[in-house]
Amino acid sequence: MSAIREIRRRTVRDIRNAKGKVPVVCLTAHSAPMAKLLDPHVDLLLVGDSLGMVVYGFSSTLPVTLDMMIAHGAAVVRGSSRAVVVIDLPFATYQESPEQAYRSAARTMIETGAQAVKIEGGVEMAPTIRFLTQRGIPVMAHIGLTPQSVNTLGGFRTQGRDEAGAAALIADAKAVEEAGAFSVVIEGTVATVATAISEAISIPTIGIGASAACDGQVLVIDDLLGLFTDFTPKFVKKYADLATIVSGAASAYADEVKARVFPGPEHVV
Ligand code: KIV
Repeated sequence: MSAIREIRRRTVRDIRNAKGKVPVVCLTAHSAPMAKLLDPHVDLLLVGDSLGMVVYGFSSTLPVTLDMMIAHGAAVVRGSSRAVVVIDLPFATYQESPEQAYRSAARTMIETGAQAVKIEGGVEMAPTIRFLTQRGIPVMAHIGLTPQSVNTLGGFRTQGRDEAGAAALIADAKAVEEAGAFSVVIEGTVATVATAISEAISIPTIGIGASAACDGQVLVIDDLLGLFTDFTPKFVKKYADLATIVSGAASAYADEVKARVFPGPEHVV
């Protein structure tokens, strides 16, 4: 046996078992090089349909297609070897019926090698989550501010502000847990509600704009890296300012090309 112990890829079981032990670290990734950089630091890489906004420049996630998710998901699997890879099923590829969801999820897993899919919705999606998990497809649920429902929610609004809203979110969390989801993203809710949910269910809660008491946290990598100069939501912490670095590098390159400084003798054969 080799003295070097192979580092195996994490499984959804590892994520589920982390509840009450260690916080689950999750980031989005959309490309192989980014997945390779993030993989040593995270438990879970989420190929989020936020790529519609941060990569493709759409104003919502609604135009994202299953083909896009599969192309980016396969790249993230190729670029990683350690983290669990979860891929979002995009809008209109699973809401119609459990059977439609199964076809979309199965294609996603077969063509990418990812270990799980994520779908948005609570009580209303519980039958679909049960259908998938009973047929070998691990599901991460996503409740609270669910961006694919931006039109019915009336915008990107914080959820669970009143008693009825809070009770509905707790019911959603219990329904997805009972249906077999291995974890649940809680997005854009009042902190106390996300805390109450984290205490009330036995699967890990992964917060984004939710609560520090969630069992794990997720951020969109482009936000964390400070790739945007416009609006920064309150829940985002920028750990770097890549927008300034990229723009400074492009400007220096442009100056050198114009001044015929680049390429220098060391860059040509
Ligand atoms: O699409 C996405 O990136 C997500 C995260 C924000 C949780 O769903």
